[in-house]
Amino acid sequence: MRIPLFELNWDENEERAVLEVMRSGWISMGPKTREYEAALARFYGVRFALAASSGTSALLLAYMSLDLKGYDVILPSLTFVATANALTFVGARPVFADIRSPDMPLMSAETVERVLTSKTKAVVFVSYAGYGDTLSEVKDLCESKGIILIEDASHSHGAKYPGGMAGTFGKVGAFSTFANKNLSTGEGGYLITDDPQIYAWAKLLRSHGMTSSSWERLEGKEEMYDVVAVGLNLRPDEIRSAIGLENLKKLPAENRRRRNLVSLYRKLIAKELPEVSVPFPPSSPSAHYIFPVLLPEGVDRDVVRKRMYEAGIYTSIHYPPVHRFKVYDTGITLPNTEEYAQRTLTLPLWGRMDRERVVRVVETLKLVLRRV
Ligand SMILES: Cc1ncc(COP(=O)(O)O)c(C=O)c1O
Repeated sequence: MRIPLFELNWDENEERAVLEVMRSGWISMGPKTREYEAALARFYGVRFALAASSGTSALLLAYMSLDLKGYDVILPSLTFVATANALTFVGARPVFADIRSPDMPLMSAETVERVLTSKTKAVVFVSYAGYGDTLSEVKDLCESKGIILIEDASHSHGAKYPGGMAGTFGKVGAFSTFANKNLSTGEGGYLITDDPQIYAWAKLLRSHGMTSSSWERLEGKEEMYDVVAVGLNLRPDEIRSAIGLENLKKLPAENRRRRNLVSLYRKLIAKELPEVSVPFPPSSPSAHYIFPVLLPEGVDRDVVRKRMYEAGIYTSIHYPPVHRFKVYDTGITLPNTEEYAQRTLTLPLWGRMDRERVVRVVETLKLVLRRV
């Protein structure tokens, strides 16, 4: 029995949606994308949703719309490098904040406050693994300091926290719908906002600052276009928007299944592997994008991963800390992030994973840990 890290939940519904678009003859951004965006806005209860070609594109659009050039922007180092790269591309300076602790691997108001500067314009909160336990306190801090809150909610599609859904706490929430995300279009992303100005800018910049799209011109709404800002091509296409529309219907059930599997993982680990700890309180709401655990201190994680792989079980590391990558290494230390990154191991998780496989992963990890 091979156990991958993740399996897609696409089926005949996504297949049908793709075929429909192919047969319609219109595959670049058009009516399906609009339908997808309207469905996303309804789902999150926000005024505006804008689909993009990737999560990185959604982040770029969010950052560009907020005019962050020349400012400091605080973000966690425990994230995928895209959160930082998009900031660098728009001319902002990424300033890395530590996580609160290895048990609560999120930035906190205190860790953010520690790295505030007179040039801080925004904070990007990453709801790592799908959790948002410290999001409200970071939001309160941002409000009290007059700083913009942005969410990189790529891990938390559809997560409901006390105080609202992931992506709706700040000025704008950006999401990736990359292949392995809870909501998947292969490549893709979207942003959500209640702010008409951010939406208008993001929409313009998504398509070279042009005042109308090809589809709008075909519909006869506009004869000619003007270019009123320097944008890029960060557009989604109709095939992916159609997939997103279908896949969004599955998201609530996908997240429920993941929650049940994580409960089982937690129960088995508490019983069979007390030396392994699971970050975040068991009752914390999450989209359960990934299931990271902390190996005991001093265990050779590479050997554990190799043995797990030999037993047919794939694992991963989320994440190597961004402040230690060559292009971002300014010599700072973030002790909690570094400890977490050294000990963390991501175990397989996807919505349709069966309980037998969860048992098998825990049993195998127990055997492997006994021998290393
Ligand atoms: C936290 C986070 N931010 C940003 C991204 C970038 O998204 P994409 O790969 O769709 O550009 C990802 C995707 O892996 C992510 O996990």
